[in-house]
Amino acid sequence: MMRAERGDITKLEVDAVVNAANTTLLGGGGVDGAIHRAAGPELLAECRTLGGCATGKAKITKGYRLPARYVIHTPGPVWHGGGRGEPALLAACYRNSLALAMEHGCRSVAFPCISTGVYGFPKERAARIAVESVGHFLGEHPGPVGEVIFCCFSDTDLHAYRERLNGDKGNPPA
Ligand code: AR6
Repeated sequence: MMRAERGDITKLEVDAVVNAANTTLLGGGGVDGAIHRAAGPELLAECRTLGGCATGKAKITKGYRLPARYVIHTPGPVWHGGGRGEPALLAACYRNSLALAMEHGCRSVAFPCISTGVYGFPKERAARIAVESVGHFLGEHPGPVGEVIFCCFSDTDLHAYRERLNGDKGNPPA
């Protein structure tokens, strides 16, 4: 089941939260900065051992001081107008993050709106890709991941997701 909520992803009690990281995995601003601040310095220490991550791929760490048990770090694509494979790379972020969550037995996973902050991916289009990629993955891989939360930081994002999810149980139109 997929649903959209407005909130701060660092507060969510889920098995894994996904971090909209960069390819160094060494932290940054936005949701990445918030996750590192909330998790504490041990998160950066573990990230330093990972050797970075390619755009569209994902790597997993512990969640340390977060309520979430794991953090799945995925660098989204920087938007260059859409002609450099950005949509396919964004879809890969969702798919590869869920594959890692599944390998680690996670039942609940929360995603931020990857690439739609400083990376500039158009929000409506990103929401469509997120809902389609996750929906497709869950359809193809029944269990253990049963709950996916799209954690929106703004009402604009929440609205975009709820429109896409309209019809899904528990997601009345916003
Ligand atoms: N909880 C949920 N969503 C949040 C939070 C939060 N606490 N804080 C911000 N957002 P961005 P990107 C939303 O810029 O575009 C970093 O420096 C935010 O409103 O964080 O993928 C990395 O290190 C937006 O909707 O990520 C990379 O260098 C969404 O999170 C770069 O930014 C993503 O915005 C990645 O850029």
